[in-house]
Amino acid sequence: MKDMYILAIESSCDETSVSIVRNGCEEIGTVVLSQMDTHASFGGVVPEIASRMHIENITLVIEECLNKADMTMDKIDAIAVTYGPGLIGSLLVGLQAAKTLALIYNKPLIPVHHIAGHIYANSLVETMKFPLIALVVSGGHTDIIYMKDHYSFEKIGGTLDDAVGEAYDKVARVLGLNYPGGPLVDKLAHMGEDTYDLPIPLNDESYNFSFSGLKSAVINLSHNETQRGNKIIVENLAASFQNRVVGILVHKTIKAMKEYKVNNLIVAGGVSANRGLRELITKVCKQNNYNITIPEIKYCTDNAAMIGAAAYYAYQMGRVSSLDLSAKASDKLQ
Ligand code: KG4
Ligand code: ZN
Repeated sequence: MKDMYILAIESSCDETSVSIVRNGCEEIGTVVLSQMDTHASFGGVVPEIASRMHIENITLVIEECLNKADMTMDKIDAIAVTYGPGLIGSLLVGLQAAKTLALIYNKPLIPVHHIAGHIYANSLVETMKFPLIALVVSGGHTDIIYMKDHYSFEKIGGTLDDAVGEAYDKVARVLGLNYPGGPLVDKLAHMGEDTYDLPIPLNDESYNFSFSGLKSAVINLSHNETQRGNKIIVENLAASFQNRVVGILVHKTIKAMKEYKVNNLIVAGGVSANRGLRELITKVCKQNNYNITIPEIKYCTDNAAMIGAAAYYAYQMGRVSSLDLSAKASDKLQ
């Protein structure tokens, strides 16, 4: 079969990214332009600034990606783009660029759901084996998804309030750390010990998660100790928080693997960069003889290579779109 080269665009949040991916599994070249430094001073992503920066950078990033991959547009077979979910203004910029390329160069346009992208980041690492359970943990999502085949997504649980990355970022702010705080809390957690009495979040029979209670417990504890004139040991508080979060994520994921009689696990999304999660879930999978794939860190956080990988499989299922494709701030993964 002829090789298929997809040029993919991702702009759902604060990364402008373009990638060229061959046959859904090989990254030819990727450029990720992060706006993190700009948003850090505001303590979070400012949507208006994000979309303006995407506009300023998108054509430069497309050009740089083609140069990096040593490709020209005539070698590209299709254009893929994240249509949602995400920040609407940010999504629109990537979408407009993708539609323009598809129109000018007469290429098919493949719409990709952002979470499908995170899941398919795994196919850049290893061929995906089905059935599988995907644990998707990011700044916007915390989902356990059962997949019996490509593009068959059955969500069996998800967060009822904050996404896990969001909880990390909020706890980081209370601890006086910069945005995005997830990686910093992770780092501190490895320097401390689990000494604080924090609740296990939503420790029930369901596959759902709830992190807002745990987040509030950290905030209250921090305020109470400060009022009493006691010093918080941030490393220990980070370690205690991380242990509760990682513990429940791993517990419910393994429970799902058992109930759905699945041997293959993939972990996806920005929080899969978390060292505590990677260590514990790998250890427990080994104990249970489960296969586990976690992408390299560069494929965990937002990037267009994962969109190019997902698009290849979407295309095989006939998922192409006309040029009136619209951006969606929220949309069900299907
Ligand atoms: O997938 P992603 O890049 O963007 C979304 O689609 O949301 O995930 C970003 C989230 C942020 O909340 C960030 O704090 C979190 O992932 N994150 C981490 C780590 N690295 C990134 N959270 C905990 N530990 C980490 N090492
Ligand atoms: Zn993401």
